[in-house]
Amino acid sequence: MVPFSGLTSEQETLREIAARFAADKIRPAAPGLDERAEFPTGVIKEGHGLGLINLTLPAELGGSGLSLFDACLVIEEIAWGCSGFATSMVANDLALTPIAIGGTAEQKKKFIEPIVAGGALASFCLTEPGAGSDAAGLQTTVEDGGDHWIVDGSKQWITNAGHASQFTVFATHDRAKRAKGISCIAVPRSSAGVEVGHHENKMGQRCSDTCRVTFDKVRVPKGNMIGAPGEGFKIAMQTLDASRPLTAAIAVGIGRAALEHAIAYSKERKQFGAAISTFQAIQFMIADMATGVEASRLLTWRSAALYDQGHPSSLVSSMAKRMSADTAMSVATDAVQIFGGYGYTKEYPVEKLMRDAKLLQIYEGTSQIQRIVIGRELLK
Ligand code: CAA
Repeated sequence: MVPFSGLTSEQETLREIAARFAADKIRPAAPGLDERAEFPTGVIKEGHGLGLINLTLPAELGGSGLSLFDACLVIEEIAWGCSGFATSMVANDLALTPIAIGGTAEQKKKFIEPIVAGGALASFCLTEPGAGSDAAGLQTTVEDGGDHWIVDGSKQWITNAGHASQFTVFATHDRAKRAKGISCIAVPRSSAGVEVGHHENKMGQRCSDTCRVTFDKVRVPKGNMIGAPGEGFKIAMQTLDASRPLTAAIAVGIGRAALEHAIAYSKERKQFGAAISTFQAIQFMIADMATGVEASRLLTWRSAALYDQGHPSSLVSSMAKRMSADTAMSVATDAVQIFGGYGYTKEYPVEKLMRDAKLLQIYEGTSQIQRIVIGRELLK
């Protein structure tokens, strides 16, 4: 790997803490948890103790208070260890950022602090069984029930839902109004009518917990609405602008891990009387893999830096997410190719990386949705 450069000594220290945690705690646990599709409760708790979750949430509310750039440094390392862990560990940032963006000081204290300071988990509930890419087409309703709101509907593919104690739910007052009818509301898991489904049996990132959540006429206090009625879609999109660089960093971590495995194996594996690394066919693959990982990291860093500096960042966040996800998929696929038949077995780590990488092209907006955002931003 090309050495990191231009980082401050604080950033290097932060990266090293995350790298050590990934090497000592995550990598050894990952294959078994993947096999059993088991959520890494214990390791996540340890990560909380080290300040490796709630990375971007305000320090005064118990978060790590990192810039998005510094959070990307941490998350690349965690994802190098296992992207299922990384997805689980950034899910609180995703769930609580809408409250950090749109909540009042009182709401931040009430809905962010207990989760973050207490080491609990929260989930971001936008996607539904019939509304994935078309987020503004969501069907879950929020109705005025007098002294409370009534939330009714189902959410799908909700990260950490099985372990979350609070849900940030996007729901509509009027489906015909699409984006303009959507509100954001914090729903405690303990509310009557909240039901969490089973942990989905996924292809990859199997240790990350993904469930359906059903809200059956759930009564929620009026004070739980984040932002004004109808502001929820904007809050969700602003949240995704902040979280897509972190997702891109997960993809960079997967790509880097696959590249490292491929380089090491190509030096060991002998065919035609020589290490396969001496063949130009393999060298060209490794050259392209490494170039893709480096370029993805630079775009990810640029998107995070733009966000941190307060510049509009939708365009570059989507570019970073699109490029890093597609690169992680192609690099992991090439790593399997370099390992040949061995790469296709569970005896070697690269098949897991290939399964894990696929999810990056799907969640937090598919690669096709990122192209829609990029195209619209360039042409508006
Ligand atoms: N910031 C602020 N406002 C924004 C915005 C942004 N980044 N993007 C859009 N908006 C505003 C628009 O300006 C518009 O408001 P006005 O009408 O006042 O101008 C309003 O929101 C509606 O925007 P669009 O007309 O662009 O909406 P659309 O219906 O055409 O769809 C979309 C836009 C980009 C396709 C959007 O639906 C989208 O991002 N879809 C993908 C959803 C997604 O990423 N889901 C991932 C779920 S999270 C997940 O997977 C996490 C996990 O668990 C791991």
